[in-house]
Amino acid sequence: MKTSAMARFLQNVFFTCVLLTFMALVVITNSIKSTPLPEPLTSHAIKSSVLPSDRNITQWSAYLPYLKNPTTICDSFKTFDGIKILVLVKSSPENFHLRSWIRYKADKNQEFKDSVRTVFLLGQSGSRDKDILKESQVHGDIVQGSFVDAYRNLTLKTIMGYRWLSEHCANSDYVVYKDDDFRIHFGNLIKQFKAQKNKDSIFIGHLVQKGKMIYRDPKHKWYLSKEDYPKNILPPYFPGGAYVVSTSIARKLASNFEKVKIIPIDDVYIGLVAQTLTITLTHSKLFGVGNCDNFQKNIACREFSKPDEVLDAWKTMTVYNLEKTKT
Ligand SMILES: *[C@@H]1O[C@H](CO)[C@@H](O)[C@H](O)[C@H]1NC(C)=O
Ligand SMILES: *[C@@H]1O[C@H](CO)[C@@H](O)[C@H](O)[C@H]1NC(C)=O
Repeated sequence: MKTSAMARFLQNVFFTCVLLTFMALVVITNSIKSTPLPEPLTSHAIKSSVLPSDRNITQWSAYLPYLKNPTTICDSFKTFDGIKILVLVKSSPENFHLRSWIRYKADKNQEFKDSVRTVFLLGQSGSRDKDILKESQVHGDIVQGSFVDAYRNLTLKTIMGYRWLSEHCANSDYVVYKDDDFRIHFGNLIKQFKAQKNKDSIFIGHLVQKGKMIYRDPKHKWYLSKEDYPKNILPPYFPGGAYVVSTSIARKLASNFEKVKIIPIDDVYIGLVAQTLTITLTHSKLFGVGNCDNFQKNIACREFSKPDEVLDAWKTMTVYNLEKTKT
């Protein structure tokens, strides 16, 4: 009797949390939807559009040391079909629920449990740093840099991710680089890898071949100043969402960051670095930039297009986690 009452109590507590989280998610999801232009879209909030000009990696290096650095995550890697995949997730400090969801999916997806390693990339966030510390102590999967976590600091986050993988996960074969609200179909991804003859040439995503949208208005989310980027056309790049890159290419990119001045749009920045190496970016229609109609046929797309899905997902996850703590 007592234990079942306890279980019911716990369940109530959990469902209350579910509901609160859900409400927060709806707000977030809606704010994503009302953003006028689609690419490159991420879930990160803009905190400030003011940035010192003339940045390069030398000037920024003071902000790149890790505050949290789990170094042994890739030690226990095992291959699946000869393949080891590192997933780098650029996540916003406030998106605790999305990180929980990704961990839950990883835990459930036993098939790829040992061959896929997931790491979350975060910056500093003042009031949330205490929670991030706890989260990192529990899960050990957070890489945190000493820069302020802000939309226009995403390039620093990306650089940190590439450096981290070069230092601590060079034994991976491929890297998935994605936003925290994107999902990956690992089965389809591995099929794609297997179909590719030259493993080291893999650099695949939803490609923008000739980006012409350069925003010169300092108030715009994707503002690029003339000093930062004088040209009128962007290099080929993968806009926000998800792309995959072989670890060998990722390491080459990482070693070329020094040669390319940092601009505040991370997707374009990686495109610029790729240009210095004449690395080809390959388009695949299996990588979405938005919600997908049929996830089973895709490799990457956005999670949760409808609020109903969010609620269902949260119920399922809560029950799963509750069951797990019981055993
Ligand atoms: C980067 O900035 C530093 C400090 O301002 C400067 O000395 C260096 O020449 C710059 N490097 C490049 C590649 O622009
Ligand atoms: C980026 O991070 C640096 C270092 O923490 C900080 O000085 C700067 O204000 C941040 N940029 C934004 C747009 O918040």
